[in-house]
Amino acid sequence: MNKLRLQDKVTLITGAGQGIGRGCAEAFAREGARVVVADRSAEQGEAAARQIVAAGGEAIFVAADVAEPAQVEALVARAVAHFGRLDVLVSNAGIGGRSLGDGPLHQCTIDGWDAIMAVNLRGAFLACKFAIPELLKTGGNIVTMASVLGLVGSQGLYDTHAYMTSKAGVIGLTRTIAAYYAKDGLRANCLAPGLIDTRMAARTKADAALLAQIGFWQPLGPIGQVRDVADAAIFLASDEAKFITGIVLPIDGGWSAQ
Ligand SMILES: NC(=O)c1ccc[n+]([C@@H]2O[C@H](COP(=O)([O-])OP(=O)(O)OC[C@H]3O[C@@H](n4cnc5c(N)ncnc54)[C@H](O)[C@@H]3O)[C@@H](O)[C@H]2O)c1
Repeated sequence: MNKLRLQDKVTLITGAGQGIGRGCAEAFAREGARVVVADRSAEQGEAAARQIVAAGGEAIFVAADVAEPAQVEALVARAVAHFGRLDVLVSNAGIGGRSLGDGPLHQCTIDGWDAIMAVNLRGAFLACKFAIPELLKTGGNIVTMASVLGLVGSQGLYDTHAYMTSKAGVIGLTRTIAAYYAKDGLRANCLAPGLIDTRMAARTKADAALLAQIGFWQPLGPIGQVRDVADAAIFLASDEAKFITGIVLPIDGGWSAQ
């Protein structure tokens, strides 16, 4: 029988209660990974872990807010205590911030900026910081979640400049980790999705003008699916990518190619 692509890889996924993170958790488990579902929402996180177990996979849920250092440190400790090791971190948790005060820079509120940065950039930093010592023991790797909006400007429609800056920061964080820790056998790669069909995409889906613009930016299809991102994450986390580190892989239907 063929070995699964992530057989027995202990994988910690932040923001795995729903959306892209949950899709990754389910897809990783189908590839044999033992998954730690982390989320600040216990209801969604527990449901995600339960579903994986019901489908024959292995998963536990651990509640953690990625913006809180003590919670992230405890999350990594719990993952290692339960599964004995850590092979992969998928640092996925993130928020969009229009309702928090994000917007064009001159209108972006100080609180909005701080709230976005706290989750999207500080959260990624904390997850990587506390996971790296464990990943160094196993020759593990990190997959981070940026956005096409960390690569290109908003062109007048996605004017959330704190969000975009946070995602550009995630790209920088990933490259820094990749460059420094390659000598230690630790890889770090970054995914940059375009518009993907999750709760985060609801506003766009409800706005005909925005959706038409997205159709122009993503000529391969107006909206990507969670599975498109999960498949790319599996590849980067697996041994198939053992000579790949420091890349930013757009999953954006052609958006960043234009
Ligand atoms: N959906 C898209 O179109 C899209 C595009 C590009 C990038 N992304 C990125 O992909 C990632 C996932 O997005 P999504 O669309 O699945 O979003 P989503 O809102 O559907 O899910 C996000 C999950 O993260 C959790 N979360 C939020 N803040 C958290 C925190 N502080 N600590 C722990 N968990 C937290 C939420 O509870 C939720 O379960 C984000 O980093 C997002 O920026 C999404």
